[in-house]
Parts: sequence; C-alpha cells; structure tokens
Amino acid sequence: MTEEKKLARFFGKEDVLESARHSSLHAVQPAPRLSASVEPIFKRNDIGAREFEYTERDFERVRTLIYKRAGISLTPAKQDMVYSRLARRLRAKKMTYFREYLDALERNIDPAEWEAFVNALTTNLTSFFREAHHFDILADNLRKISEKRPIKIWCNAASTGEEPYSLAITACEALGSMTPPVHIIASDLDTNVLKHGERGIYTADRVDRMEPARLQKFFIHAGGEQAGSVRVRPELQRLISFRQINLLDTRWDLQGPFDAIFCRNVMIYFDKPTQYAILERFAPLLRPEGLLYAGHSENFMHAAKIFRSMGRTVYAKVAPADASGKVGTA
Ligand SMILES: C[S@@+](CC[C@H](N)C(=O)[O-])C[C@H]1O[C@@H](n2cnc3c(N)ncnc32)[C@H](O)[C@@H]1O
Repeated sequence: MTEEKKLARFFGKEDVLESARHSSLHAVQPAPRLSASVEPIFKRNDIGAREFEYTERDFERVRTLIYKRAGISLTPAKQDMVYSRLARRLRAKKMTYFREYLDALERNIDPAEWEAFVNALTTNLTSFFREAHHFDILADNLRKISEKRPIKIWCNAASTGEEPYSLAITACEALGSMTPPVHIIASDLDTNVLKHGERGIYTADRVDRMEPARLQKFFIHAGGEQAGSVRVRPELQRLISFRQINLLDTRWDLQGPFDAIFCRNVMIYFDKPTQYAILERFAPLLRPEGLLYAGHSENFMHAAKIFRSMGRTVYAKVAPADASGKVGTA
C-alpha cells in the first residue's frame, strides 16, 4: 500500500486521494447549478445500490451548504465523494434519506452536527515538509530577521499538524535552538484535524521519509497505546498554538503582523472571488517584507494588485504605491 493510501485509510477518507488528484481540475469556479432532479442518484434497493437514498437535489443542497459554511466549491464530479463522506453521518444518526439528514441540519436540531458535516467534507491530505523548497526559503528569511525581534508565522489550513511542525523544525534548525523566538499559529476549520495536530502523535509511516537525524532530534517514541508511533518533542509543541479559524469568517481570532503566512493547498477548494476576498484580508496581516506561501497548484495572478509572485508559489505584498499603478518602492 502506498503511503498516500495508508494516510487516506488512517483518516477514513480514502476518497481524499481521488479528490487530491482532481483538485487542480476543479473547484476554481463555482460549478453551474445542477438540474436538481429528485431522481435518486442511488436508490436504496437497486442492485449494487447504496445504503441511503441520495438524489441530485440532495447533492445540490450539500453543495450550497458547504459553500456557504466553508467556501468549498464542489463540482458535480464530487457526487460520489459527498455520498461516501456523509453516509457515515446518516448511519450515526440512524437516518435513511439524505433529505432527512439535510432537513435536520438546516433546522439546526443538533448544532454539533454542523461541525461533523464540515469535518466530513474537508480534505486533509498533508505531509511533513511537503513542497520542501518553501522551508528553505523560510529558513533563509528567519536567519535574516531573528536577531531583531520575535517572529510570528500563521499557518492556516494546517490540517493534522505536519505543516506547522515542519515550520517549527525549520525555525529550530535555522536559528540553532530548540527554543527559537518564533511563535506559530496553526489554524484549520476542521476540529478533528486540529485535535490531531495538538496531540502531535504520528504513525511511523508519516515520518518514514524524514532524515534520521531530524527524526531523532525532534521526535520521541510514543508509548502505551500509541506504541510504534512517534510524538513531537514538547519544545516544538510550545512553539505552536492550534486554534479553529474559518478562512471565510469576517473576523479572525489572531493578531498580526506576521512574518510569513502559509496558506497552502486550501485555496484550490475556493472560487476566485472567495480567494480574492481572503487575500485582501491577508495583506494587512503580513509585514511589508513578509511572504505568503501558496500550494503547488495555486496561483494568485488574479490578485496581482495585492500580491506579486516571487516565483515557486511564494508571494510578496504589493506596496501601496505599486497598487495605485505608480512606480513605487517596496
Ligand atoms: C488539503 S489540506 C492542506 C493541508 C496543508 N496546508 C498542506 O498543504 O499540506 C486543506 C485543509 O484546509 C482546511 N479548510 C478547508 N476549508 C477551510 C476554511 N474555510 N477555513 C479554514 N480551513 C479550511 C481543511 O480542513 C484541510 O485541513
């Protein structure tokens, strides 16, 4: 089994892989409205059919709800994915029809179900030192600024924590200390992944590509029920605060300015207007010399007024004079 498959199985989101493969092909623009037919996509008693009745109208409702709640734009190609992710919720609630589940959700009978609904529909694929070149760029920048003042980094859409811990390791290595003057805010919308990140325990396959010296320095063997897994050292945990932040919210519970904002592999799930609105709100939170790091298949050319590309999916803030069209100094 490949590592990706193991990860997907671990988080009970086997369809994550499929989703990640298609991610660059979809979700950039809101998909056209479906005809919203009430014909079941899968009838309960059909041969080879699924457990719960699920119509195109149900899918359309899910699409609208998750778009409003999380900004996530689902294309029609995601019908099967939505079924498999939410079927577990129907089972847990002992319901038979998707419409029954969605009616209850909309009536807000059980507000906690909204959290479960969102958690079920997020895609959390991540890994330690993913897109490794970004960590080299960050290390260079940290060395330049560390003598002057404490450093603040915001890692949003941090998923299960591999990304913020990679940032913390980078800071320790770049500044030659297990207690560097660095504070990392790691946020995500999905409360399950946040708990995982906070715990800081990872199965051996999650770290098997890490250099042995790094592994030895920054991880310890987890004992008890977690035997066979590794735990990040408490020094790393002390550099990070995990908290829930929905990038769609109009107020974010954090205070800049940040020296770096990591926003990687989440904007692909948002349409361009949503991306633009978020980028507009990142800009004032980033120091003038700070950098914004994006995912490998994301580009913010449509927001060139706010961020300019520095290459390799790293962006710098456009200085106000540049933004007005005049020749300015950065
Ligand atoms: C594919 S993971 C990316 C993880 C990590 N940044 C990386 O590049 O490896 C996308 C993450 O975005 C989070 N997410 C989705 N919608 C969000 C929103 N509206 N606000 C905050 N996080 C969101 C998901 O919960 C998921 O953990």
